[in-house]
Amino acid sequence: MTAIVESPVEQTAVEPAGLRPAAARPGEFRALELKKLSIWPPVVLAPMAGVTDVPFRSLCRRFGAGIYVNQMITARAWLERDRKTLKLAEFAADEYPRSIQLYGTVPEEIGETVRRLVAEDGVEHVDMNFGCPVPKVTRHGGGAALPVRHRLLRRIVHEAVQAAGDVPVTIKFRMGVDDDVLTFIETGRIAEDEGVSAIALHARTAEQLYSGTARWEAIAELKQAVTSIPVLGNGDIWEPSDALAMMRETGCDGVVIGRGCLGRPWLFGALAAAFDAEPLPALPDFAAVSAMMLEHAHMLVDWYDDEDSLRQFRKHALWYLMGFPVGGELRNRFARVSTLAELEELCAAVPPDLEFPTDVLRQPRSHTGGPRPVHLPEGWLESRESEEPLSRGAESVVSGG
Ligand SMILES: Cc1cc2nc3c(=O)[nH]c(=O)nc-3n(C[C@H](O)[C@H](O)[C@H](O)COP(=O)(O)O)c2cc1C
Repeated sequence: MTAIVESPVEQTAVEPAGLRPAAARPGEFRALELKKLSIWPPVVLAPMAGVTDVPFRSLCRRFGAGIYVNQMITARAWLERDRKTLKLAEFAADEYPRSIQLYGTVPEEIGETVRRLVAEDGVEHVDMNFGCPVPKVTRHGGGAALPVRHRLLRRIVHEAVQAAGDVPVTIKFRMGVDDDVLTFIETGRIAEDEGVSAIALHARTAEQLYSGTARWEAIAELKQAVTSIPVLGNGDIWEPSDALAMMRETGCDGVVIGRGCLGRPWLFGALAAAFDAEPLPALPDFAAVSAMMLEHAHMLVDWYDDEDSLRQFRKHALWYLMGFPVGGELRNRFARVSTLAELEELCAAVPPDLEFPTDVLRQPRSHTGGPRPVHLPEGWLESRESEEPLSRGAESVVSGG
């Protein structure tokens, strides 16, 4: 009797090693509509501090389509014309849509920043961060702590949406502080009421940080509760099959990709193929990966106009190399690379025909830590009804997650 292969998971046993099979059925999914932006496939590159700069976004955009969010900037730092923040807020000349993530806790400052980002910098999509679990942020009532003060959250979101006019505003948040303080349904409803264009849930609590697996059932719950705007799911998408599975299992309207694309900008090409029901591209061998690395490194040096910026490339180099049997010594040299010539030399020292190491496809890169208790301001949980931001302290940070 011939066995009937029913699920993609079973099929992997008989397929040659590679990405798990993934193909949307015709008409199964729709483009993500954010005011005048129509995004196909419904895929978003997650904002990642220190990662989603112009060179990385440009490389990702080359492979696929979707929306590619710039790194987070702090409203106050931008208003004060902080040089580092202004550099973070730049876009490539051909970048469309110009999408950026904003952080802040003072409604008026958020409004002013959004108004000016749109008017002066031509920003076409604003995402807002209400999920950052970093202690120096939550301790001051920002990031993942903020949704606890739901009236303050509403004021901030209101200001942003009003200031943005025709430009869509989305918000990104976690399930809550911890399992005792789950705020995601309330946050989603506030967003819906205030005219937010879409919401994205990283399906973990702040306490979880990056530990365990993302709880996709929370995305399904949010989708049931918030019905008039798109709900995007985020957490643990490593392959195109995960993106389709998340959408099928939760009913969400799009996916947000973070760590899965680190060292793998080509993932956006594979995602586009899966959503278009086209054959998935072959996994790159080392020759293709080293070509990507070199291109990425050249783009970085061009963009920052400084070979010293290769310091920022070192973490990317290790992500690109993950799983390739290059040996400890060579890997260490990649981790200290400081010139383009040196990078070329190191790449040339690796056999170009090394196959892509499929065993690391689903292995998290970058953040994996947690769980860890969340630092909240004193009395924060008892002052849920307050609509005031806590202090100026939370505005001094410029990176989050
Ligand atoms: C290096 C790094 C930096 C991050 N920075 C931000 C950030 O600035 N803003 C934000 O909303 N999330 C940030 N995140 C969280 C991601 O956007 C995403 O929510 C999280 O990684 C879960 O998705 P994933 O499982 O696809 O990685 C960061 C994550 C990483 C790994």
